Amino acid sequence: IPVAVLISGRGSNMTALIEACREESFPARIALVLSNEPAAAGLATAASAGLRTASLDHRPFGRDREAHEREIDALLREAGAQAVCLAGYMRRLTPFLVGAWSGRMLNIHPSLLPSFPGLHTHERALAAGVRIHGCTVHLVTEGVDEGPILGQAAVPVLAGDDAATLGARVLAQEHRLYPAVLARHLRPDAEQAGSDGAAALRCF
Ligand code: GRF
Repeated sequence: IPVAVLISGRGSNMTALIEACREESFPARIALVLSNEPAAAGLATAASAGLRTASLDHRPFGRDREAHEREIDALLREAGAQAVCLAGYMRRLTPFLVGAWSGRMLNIHPSLLPSFPGLHTHERALAAGVRIHGCTVHLVTEGVDEGPILGQAAVPVLAGDDAATLGARVLAQEHRLYPAVLARHLRPDAEQAGSDGAAALRCF
């Protein structure tokens, strides 16, 4: 099943999806990696993995977010994508793109939603004193980080953690969770093979 990945930066979740797609039994194939940031490091990673890439800088579109999204949508369709994974895509979406991909656009967020939507989730989790933190894969809807939850993985907050150590612990789970949830979303009836996703799957 052809899937597009939208990024803005380093693309470590994208890399986790690329690696998952190397497995014969994984239901997705990456048809396109698209970034709104021409300098995104993830674009080079994707290109060196032999994937089709595109960059579509949002800046020339000024305030016309929808015009930018119409071009994104055209590229997604041209690539034959049937689903879209946001993986560190740092632009808020308008109802146009959300509506066009309703039920077929996933996002990964570095907190246990509905706690800590938005930015700086690890700092805010530490400030709140939570003992359990984690990540969420959800369907994208118009409200930022508000769509139906498809899967979560939890990590402990340890004494002495700062945002970097906690964030790294969460990120390791993101990389396991996203492919596992994507596979289940694309093939809900298939048995998910492998034990590597077990820690993440536990929190489905
Ligand atoms: C991840 O923490 C993801 O949860 C959030 O943005 C970050 C992207 O990191 N949405 P990467 O580009 O996948 O490395």
